[in-house]
Amino acid sequence: MLESLNKTEQQALSKLQHAADSTALKEWRSRHLGKESALLQALGSLGSLPAEDRPAIGRRANEIRRALEAACQQRADELRGTEFDPAPAVALDVTLPGRPVQRGRLHIATKTLRRIYAIWAEMGFQVYRSPDVETDEYNFELLNIPAHHPARDMWDTFHTDTPGIILRTHTSPGQIHAMREYCPEPIRVILPGMCYRYEQITARSEIQFNQVEGLAVGKNIRFTDLKGTLSDFARRMFGASTGTRFRASHFPFTEPSAEMDIECFLCSGEGCSVCKYTGWLEILGCGMVHPTVLQNGGYDPCEFTGFAFGMGPERIAMLKYEIEDIRYFWGNDLRFLEQF
Ligand code: DAH
Repeated sequence: MLESLNKTEQQALSKLQHAADSTALKEWRSRHLGKESALLQALGSLGSLPAEDRPAIGRRANEIRRALEAACQQRADELRGTEFDPAPAVALDVTLPGRPVQRGRLHIATKTLRRIYAIWAEMGFQVYRSPDVETDEYNFELLNIPAHHPARDMWDTFHTDTPGIILRTHTSPGQIHAMREYCPEPIRVILPGMCYRYEQITARSEIQFNQVEGLAVGKNIRFTDLKGTLSDFARRMFGASTGTRFRASHFPFTEPSAEMDIECFLCSGEGCSVCKYTGWLEILGCGMVHPTVLQNGGYDPCEFTGFAFGMGPERIAMLKYEIEDIRYFWGNDLRFLEQF
């Protein structure tokens, strides 16, 4: 009899470990501690045992009963918290509104880039990607900027450990890649991407920033095409009444070269702090592709002409949204990013 009681206890305890929720625990309890259980049956039939056996068996049966009760309680404690309790001890107001979920959004630089892509796509320019890591040859030489030429001072450069391999300082080397791929077909592309310059980081200059380069190559492309196309871009980007002006400038890869200003959209040309009281905002550099550059791209400069331009989307966003410090763009401060 004692042996069978011990066996009952062992079986009950081992089954208890498999009770994984309150329903299973309830079932376990009724099977092993309920009226019909072997244990309670044994306790109830003590009277029919020989008198000398009763005390020992009775004591053992009660011991087992207490042990099973304790184990059951312990298992219930373990399970508490792992399942949903419809009537928790602390009142829970299920009608309370939830916590707001943080929603992601596009970075202001990405938004500006996408707007620029869309405008140029409408005008028939497709996106052409070229590498961030460039050779000195593509970044400078083929763009008519020989080694030791003072024009290189315009682009302070990050060099890699491999001689001649650098991070591109502007998107202009993409012009050569595009020309060499498309030659002798006409070209209309924009070349967006990150550029890198070894510069002091200040409110106005960063060591990395985006540029969007543009290139059109074909027969009979003239400076008037450049002016018309870029003025049209300005009107689409900044509003239909935006005025533009072109100032003579110098870039080694274009001849003639110019810079395009737009009429200040904040003061409509009256003069304000953003346009430094000039009424104009500088937006981009541009020019007719230099014959040497056309040749380096594989085009015969006697037959083909082209125009090119380069603009800085962060600079455009700074003007448009009156952002006074370029460092905000890559500072990853949500207080800044959430405003757009
Ligand atoms: N690559 C020039 C820069 O980084 C910008 C530029 C100016 C690009 C004139 C052009 C251009 O294509 O025609 O400052």
